[in-house]
Amino acid sequence: MAAPSHIAFIMDGNGRWAKRRGLPRKYGHKMGTEALERTVKAAAELGVKYVTFYAFSTENWTRPQAEIDYLMDTFRDFLKKGDKYKDDNYKLVFIGNLDRFPSDIADMARSLVDRTKANDGLTVVIAMNYGSWEEITTAINSLIAEKVASVSEEDVKAALYTAGIPFPDLVVRTGGEVRLSNFLLLQSAYAELLFTDVLWPDFDKNELIRVIDEYSKRERKFGGAGGGDAEA
Ligand code: FPP
Repeated sequence: MAAPSHIAFIMDGNGRWAKRRGLPRKYGHKMGTEALERTVKAAAELGVKYVTFYAFSTENWTRPQAEIDYLMDTFRDFLKKGDKYKDDNYKLVFIGNLDRFPSDIADMARSLVDRTKANDGLTVVIAMNYGSWEEITTAINSLIAEKVASVSEEDVKAALYTAGIPFPDLVVRTGGEVRLSNFLLLQSAYAELLFTDVLWPDFDKNELIRVIDEYSKRERKFGGAGGGDAEA
C-alpha cells in the first residue's frame, strides 16, 4: 500500500515523560514541542503531504491554570517562528475555535495561515481548542444561519474546520491510551488507527518510519470486501 498522504497525531504522554524523570510536567510539553518540530521535518522528508497535531482540546481548559498558561507560552513560542515555516515551504492551517485563546495567539495563528497560504509543501494542521463535538455543533449552526432546507454530506464536510483538507489516512496516538478523545471523529471514519506506547516527547523519525511501515501492511477496505475477494 502507498505511504499515507495524511497522518494525524494525538500527542499524548508529555506529562508522564516528565514525571518519569522527576521533572515538572511543563518540561514534557517543551520536549513535546521539539518532537512536533522533528516530526514535521521528518514527514516532509518522507513525502507525507498533510500532518495534523492535536495540540489543545476543548476539554484541556479544565487543566490547572499554571499548565494552561505554560501551554499558551509554548504556543506563542511556536507561532513566533512563523517565518521559518514560511521559508521551509510549509502551509500552516489551524482547526478549532481560536477565539477562546488570548488575542495575541489567535492573531499570530491567523497571520501565519495568511503568510504560508501560497506554500505548496507539507500542510501542517494544528488542532487548537479543537473538539469534534464543538466542530459539528459550529458546522450545524453555520448551516442553519444559511437558512438551508436540507444539507448534503458535501455541505456538512464543507462546514467543518477541516474543509479542503483530505481526511486522515492514519491516526497515531502515542502514550499507550487507546481512545480518540474527541479528535477528528467524523474525518477518521475510515482512517487506520495506530496506538503506540512511545511517549510523545520520544517520537522521532524512526518512529514515524515504523508507523508508516505498519500502515503499509494494513488493507483498507472502506466498507467493501477488499483484496479482490469475489467469493460469497
Ligand atoms: C498530552 O499529553 C499533550 C497535550 C495536552 C499538549 C500537547 C501539546 C504539545 C506537544 C505542545 C506543542 C504544541 C504546539 C502547537 C507547539 P499529557 O500532558 O496529557 O500527557 P500525560 O497523559 O502523560 O499526562
